[in-house]
Amino acid sequence: MTNPLLFQTWALKGVAARNRIVVSPMCQYKSVDGSPTDWHLVNLGRYAIGGAGVVFYEETAVEARGRKTPHCAGLFDDAQVPLYRRIAGFLKSLGSVPAMQLGHSGSRGSEMGPMQGRASLEQDGGEAWQAISASDIPVRAGAPAPRAMTRSEIRDVVDAFASATRRSREAGFEIMEIHGAHGYLIHQFLSPVVNRRTDAYGGSLSNRMRFALEVTEAVRAEWPDDKPLFYRASCVDGKGGIWNLDDTVALAREVARLGVDLFDCSSGGITGTSDMPLVARVPGYHLPFGRRIKEETGLPTMAPGMITEPLQAERALQDGAIDLVGMARQLMMHADWPVHAAEVLQMADPLEWLPEDFAFRLRGRKDQREMAFNRDPQPVSTWSAPEMAASGPARAGHR
Ligand SMILES: Cc1cc2nc3c(=O)[nH]c(=O)nc-3n(C[C@H](O)[C@H](O)[C@H](O)COP(=O)(O)O)c2cc1C
Repeated sequence: MTNPLLFQTWALKGVAARNRIVVSPMCQYKSVDGSPTDWHLVNLGRYAIGGAGVVFYEETAVEARGRKTPHCAGLFDDAQVPLYRRIAGFLKSLGSVPAMQLGHSGSRGSEMGPMQGRASLEQDGGEAWQAISASDIPVRAGAPAPRAMTRSEIRDVVDAFASATRRSREAGFEIMEIHGAHGYLIHQFLSPVVNRRTDAYGGSLSNRMRFALEVTEAVRAEWPDDKPLFYRASCVDGKGGIWNLDDTVALAREVARLGVDLFDCSSGGITGTSDMPLVARVPGYHLPFGRRIKEETGLPTMAPGMITEPLQAERALQDGAIDLVGMARQLMMHADWPVHAAEVLQMADPLEWLPEDFAFRLRGRKDQREMAFNRDPQPVSTWSAPEMAASGPARAGHR
């Protein structure tokens, strides 16, 4: 019997993942000067221990002012490389493919985190910085205005993407994703809501795409040919279709031409006439975007958004809407979801997704429990300690 698609190896270029479960990037607001801490090692490590095929590091800024908050991740200094290498190496040693997502917050920099309502840093005193964007349009009414980027600043940020890509490669990451979604800098250039430039980077769709494509070209040039490059976009944004799926198809075609290997579908993020919950939050709410992009461009896709159930994930793969199952919140709650999914999908040995020493112990426990229940089907919890001790062979004891 062939394995469910969810548990078949996924290979692209020179990289192979043990299954199709991808931990989608999740900002932690726990970096120190942009660098990873023990938190990152433990948090990402638990997904790798839990059996995920690919584990993404959170959105990581290519320059210090491209962080959202002072506690966001960044990879803007060569001295940070060994700290990231520790994370990538650890994930790899646990059997997962380590993946990096690079981005720039643009006008959404110099903020506090989501639990502080993303208030501008001025209110926090001391740490604020001047944010930059395509134009000087603030994130929300009353927020400090960003400074519109000059042409040479655009060049500098494109170069910063290239340098951070080189550092990611040196740190041992194997998949790269450009974060072009959720209202951050790349998206700010794409969106006519906040891009009011009158030069070659504003106005027509092709002009608004220029920055995204220059970043893609620069990243691809630094990212090895044998390693996959993903691009994450907000496929729709702005009420009234101000950025719509046709625009995204056009963008996807262009990034594919520049060497992007997979399109990661999300939505929303630019303030003003649009917001994040633009797409109704029903199970699998981004899957239709994955399907359309794939049909029209031939690019493999991923489309995280309330994929929580094993059969739902398997069906989405079999239907062909997506090639990888990106998940965030369900894995945050249940880091060993792959084992649960393997049980539901009736894999012969669901425990194989755990590290071998965990699997060994748990297989042993399974045998003990089966033997105990076969002997006496009353709930084990009602047994006394001597009954427990007598219930199995010598190997039932602790070692
Ligand atoms: C805590 C948290 C942090 C997130 N941080 C990022 C991020 O750094 N980059 C990104 O592209 N998306 C980010 N997202 C969005 C997720 O990657 C994912 O696309 C979204 O949560 C939908 O998937 P889900 O329904 O499985 O959670 C974040 C989501 C959560 C819950």
